[in-house]
Amino acid sequence: MPTKSALETQLAVVAGFDAPRADLEQYPTPPDLAAHVVHVADLNGDVENRTVVDLGTGTGMLALGAALRGPNRVVGVDIDREALETAVENRVRVGTTTEIDWVLADATRPPLRPEGPTTVLMNPPFGAQRGHEHADRAFLSTAAEVADVSYSIHNAGSREFVEAFTEDEGGEVTHAFRATFTLESQFDFHGEDSKDIETELYRIEWT
Ligand SMILES: C[S@@+](CC[C@H](N)C(=O)[O-])C[C@H]1O[C@@H](n2cnc3c(N)ncnc32)[C@H](O)[C@@H]1O
Repeated sequence: MPTKSALETQLAVVAGFDAPRADLEQYPTPPDLAAHVVHVADLNGDVENRTVVDLGTGTGMLALGAALRGPNRVVGVDIDREALETAVENRVRVGTTTEIDWVLADATRPPLRPEGPTTVLMNPPFGAQRGHEHADRAFLSTAAEVADVSYSIHNAGSREFVEAFTEDEGGEVTHAFRATFTLESQFDFHGEDSKDIETELYRIEWT
């Protein structure tokens, strides 16, 4: 298996959002964090020969990372057409030949039912913006419906909520990691040039 750092290098060419929308919490997953998520998923046998669905794919970062690790196919879902246009361009930059379907749809209303073993990878909106509270709950709900395993990034302090939600759905949190990523300033309300964001990554098996 190629190394995590090789994957990070391959993902470093992925371009960010052209005109990021704060209401959709459009910030790119940094290549190091994306490589970490995909590499851990691959080590657990959750990428190769499976369908991988990236909910809220944005720039396509997680979908493209998965595409480089031998899945059967990849589906990237986003509600924003412009984001998907960026993802299409990023696919060319990354140069993968894996089949990828870019789907314009609301990820909180399960837009697809893949057949066979399916993994969801996602960095959903955390629900930080007014009107989007609990956005990650609806994304988890979709993961529970379409996948048998998911990897999701949440803001720090989500453990109680994620575990309770998973238990209610009859699933199990099998791994939990902490990860810090640097969010470059891209919205007017971001006063600083960049900010470190503490996050949590969960692997969940859905039944
Ligand atoms: C935190 S960003 C993650 C982006 C992506 N993982 C990346 O690295 O570029 C959240 C993404 O979810 C998308 N999104 C927000 N609400 C959505 C919804 N209801 N259905 C589908 N996508 C949504 C946004 O457009 C955005 O691309």
